[in-house]
Amino acid sequence: MGEVILSAQNVCRDFKIGDGSVVSALKNINIEIEQGKLTVLRGRSGSGKTTLINILGALDKPTKGKVVFDGRDITKLSEKKRDNIRRREMAFVFQSVALMSGLTAFENVDFMLRLANYPYNKRRARVVEVMTAVGLDKRMHHRPSEMSGGEQQRTAIARAIAHEPLIVFADEPTAELDTATALHIVKLFKELVAERGMTIIMTTHDPSMMDVADKVYTLEDGEIVEQL
Ligand SMILES: Nc1ncnc2c1ncn2[C@@H]1O[C@H](COP(=O)(O)OP(=O)(O)O)[C@@H](O)[C@H]1O
Ligand SMILES: [Mg+2]
Repeated sequence: MGEVILSAQNVCRDFKIGDGSVVSALKNINIEIEQGKLTVLRGRSGSGKTTLINILGALDKPTKGKVVFDGRDITKLSEKKRDNIRRREMAFVFQSVALMSGLTAFENVDFMLRLANYPYNKRRARVVEVMTAVGLDKRMHHRPSEMSGGEQQRTAIARAIAHEPLIVFADEPTAELDTATALHIVKLFKELVAERGMTIIMTTHDPSMMDVADKVYTLEDGEIVEQL
């Protein structure tokens, strides 16, 4: 077993809803994410995938339990510290690609490096490197409207990984893509893990996306019912 970079320990998440009742979206979750692996959280819509990945990625806090990232219980940190960890050490890829439409792919990625205070003199080379890593070195100067859905998602992935995060969170990154394109994206994740040692956690409701995973957790009704 590799080194555990992130773990959830007895994590529960309750949501209070309008009528005063409580939804238990996560019930006593325990998982360990290993460094340099592709971990998939699978489950039907409503099973708790987004709630869990948001808690793991410090976008939300559990009602109970701990989240330990790189040796720190991040549930105990101030919002400012959590924000710093998110920006410097983590990366996020979402279902709908939110690229800036007025900027080319190159400029979209470069913009993120600027926000992350990436060294100015290394920015250009880094953009080229990550666009090449996602197979889009020939599309660098296209705007989002001049790219396919799959190319836009690849650009979003390049943008997410450009600042060299320790870990990448991807919540249903393939849900808006056709099956063939979705498989390409998942293979790209696999390559980033195998060849660049990245750590990626991805959610999906699509059973055909699981073959490439190193580890699969299945969620049902807020509980982990299977680990493969
Ligand atoms: N902000 C919220 N307020 C109330 N209930 C929520 C909220 N977010 C999620 N839930 C509920 O928690 C459960 C899990 O949701 P979610 O994590 O989005 O599932 P998934 O991503 O697997 O589709 C669902 O029953 C959902 O309705
Ligand atoms: Mg979801």
